[in-house]
Amino acid sequence: MGLRKRIFAATYDWQMGGAQRAGLADLRAGVVSRATGLVLEVGAGTGLNLPHYGPDVEHLTLTEPDPSMLKRLQRRVEQQPRSATVLRAPAERLPFDDDSFDTVVCTLVLCGVEDQPLAVREIRRVLRPGGQLLFLEHMRSEDERHARLQDRFNWLNRAMVMCDCNRPTRLTLASEGLRIEEIAETDFPKAPPFINPLVHGRATHPTPVGAENTTQTRADPT
Ligand SMILES: C[S@@+](CC[C@H](N)C(=O)[O-])C[C@H]1O[C@@H](n2cnc3c(N)ncnc32)[C@H](O)[C@@H]1O
Repeated sequence: MGLRKRIFAATYDWQMGGAQRAGLADLRAGVVSRATGLVLEVGAGTGLNLPHYGPDVEHLTLTEPDPSMLKRLQRRVEQQPRSATVLRAPAERLPFDDDSFDTVVCTLVLCGVEDQPLAVREIRRVLRPGGQLLFLEHMRSEDERHARLQDRFNWLNRAMVMCDCNRPTRLTLASEGLRIEEIAETDFPKAPPFINPLVHGRATHPTPVGAENTTQTRADPT
């Protein structure tokens, strides 16, 4: 395990503290509280989203590939009342059957996965048709001038927070078969400009054509 990753995990909550207090925790709450049913959170980190899950969650599964993060995640799960299953797995290889979840939650993860299109395909695969992805991600700006600034400072972003600030996440969600239903842009609290925009919203795994109106009828035995 790399020393850098261990330091990142050990200092993550502290590093995020200012942003959390300046609005990030509220943004998390707005996204995560909409989770319903069987819920998977990928790249759950130290578990900063845990307090924001609401009563409509039937069961929560958390995945995280990094052992140092995983240890902290497990600890945080044990300290709160909701039960959750914690598993070590990268987003690119989710150890679940197709159509397993009603909701997938992804916050500040798609900027740092190894293979973003593959990770999104995996998220789509494990979501049931009609299921939702709730996301909060910083990504490449659609303003070309700002995107060029992000390209120029990506090395610094990588050095600071071990991810890319210029990934075309919105395009990847759409090109890998998710339908973006809602999306809003804001600034990442207390962060340098190249980290913006921070984008949050909801995408769905489209129901196959024809399946939406299918009603099952059962013959009346009388
Ligand atoms: C910036 S942290 C975000 C943690 C958490 N989601 C949050 O909102 O606080 C990025 C997380 O993504 C995880 N990660 C890195 N590569 C990943 C991958 N391929 N699949 C899933 N998670 C990954 C990291 O270990 C880390 O926990």
